[in-house]
Amino acid sequence: FKQSEKILTTEFYKELTQEINKTVHKIKAKPNDLKKREILYNYIKSVAKKIFPDSKIYRYGSIENGFSLTDGDIDICILNKDNFEYTPAECVEILGEKLKNNGIDDIKLLIRARVPIIKMKDNRSGISCDIGFQNRLAIQNTKLINAYSKIDNRFKQMVFISKIFNIYLITIYWSKMKNINEPYMGTLSSYCFILMIIHFLQIRKPPVLPNLQKIYLNNFKEYEYIDGFNVSFFGDINNLHKYWNSENNESLGELIVDFFKYYANDFPYISGVASVRAGGIITKEEKEWTREHQFEINKTNSVKDRYWFCVEDPFELTHNLGRPVDRKSLFKIRGEFLKAVKIINNKNLSGIQVLEKILE
Ligand code: GTP
Ligand code: MG
Repeated sequence: FKQSEKILTTEFYKELTQEINKTVHKIKAKPNDLKKREILYNYIKSVAKKIFPDSKIYRYGSIENGFSLTDGDIDICILNKDNFEYTPAECVEILGEKLKNNGIDDIKLLIRARVPIIKMKDNRSGISCDIGFQNRLAIQNTKLINAYSKIDNRFKQMVFISKIFNIYLITIYWSKMKNINEPYMGTLSSYCFILMIIHFLQIRKPPVLPNLQKIYLNNFKEYEYIDGFNVSFFGDINNLHKYWNSENNESLGELIVDFFKYYANDFPYISGVASVRAGGIITKEEKEWTREHQFEINKTNSVKDRYWFCVEDPFELTHNLGRPVDRKSLFKIRGEFLKAVKIINNKNLSGIQVLEKILE
């Protein structure tokens, strides 16, 4: 049987929109939080510069693209010259030791990870920090996210809401707390959620976000490559109007409601891949992200690939951001989207109440 749907009124969406804006304002990092992180960043930079004097040091992730929460972490990437004498894994060991000797004791060196990193937490400030090496793709995809975030404020607000939703997911299913030492299997990263939202906003009718990679490829001839991947995109947002204009006037409330509905009911989990690069859904088949292929490569690789939930990295086309998700965790994640839709359709709840209820 089908539950009769609640009619979502303009008033409902208006209240929900206001509630989203209020919540985001509360949780996003304040100037003081950013200052504390600046101090820790400068300290780590000074330690790293002593060991790798010719390196360039960058921030990436939320601290750089403006999506930090009050207790957000710092992502740091150190670039040494191309034929540097040490591998990224060795650099992790060398800098890791140095940081330990400098009084950072909450520290873990992930040497065998797909991307080797130092995971540390500064006890005085309570701030967590990831430090990696030679990860130019991460610096580049941060720039891409940053460009998208300048186009439409509704995208930014949705990302913040997705972060609280994700923290809630991680909390109920995987741990009481987001412990920096354990990268939870089955969970999605903030980065994956960001791509899920861009994908959703690109296929909206009319779209809320354009396809910055396609705009570049269609209009320019000189391409930039990192690790063999074409990483070009149109980033001159002040001049975007020459190529694309938004005709979407929906409220934030409407978009959030349909975002939950999309990942609850409409996303083609079985056959599809969300692709921000292609600007829509592509098939698992054409990427060979199929079960047979998964089985094949996992025979030889130590890092397991999974294709239950597929979100393509915009540049590193072989990387599925949904990789940590298996059948069980997909069931749970999708179940939470379904639960959110049920809350939205609850006739007794107003636009003000539903958001709180969804995020518990
Ligand atoms: P918070 O740390 O939750 O505030 O969000 P964030 O925006 O920093 O995202 P996250 O920590 O998930 O990822 C940081 C950056 O790592 C992203 O912006 C990407 O540039 C890069 N990245 C690339 N691939 C991956 C991946 O598979 N997992 C994660 N977590 N990050 C990736
Ligand atoms: Mg981060």
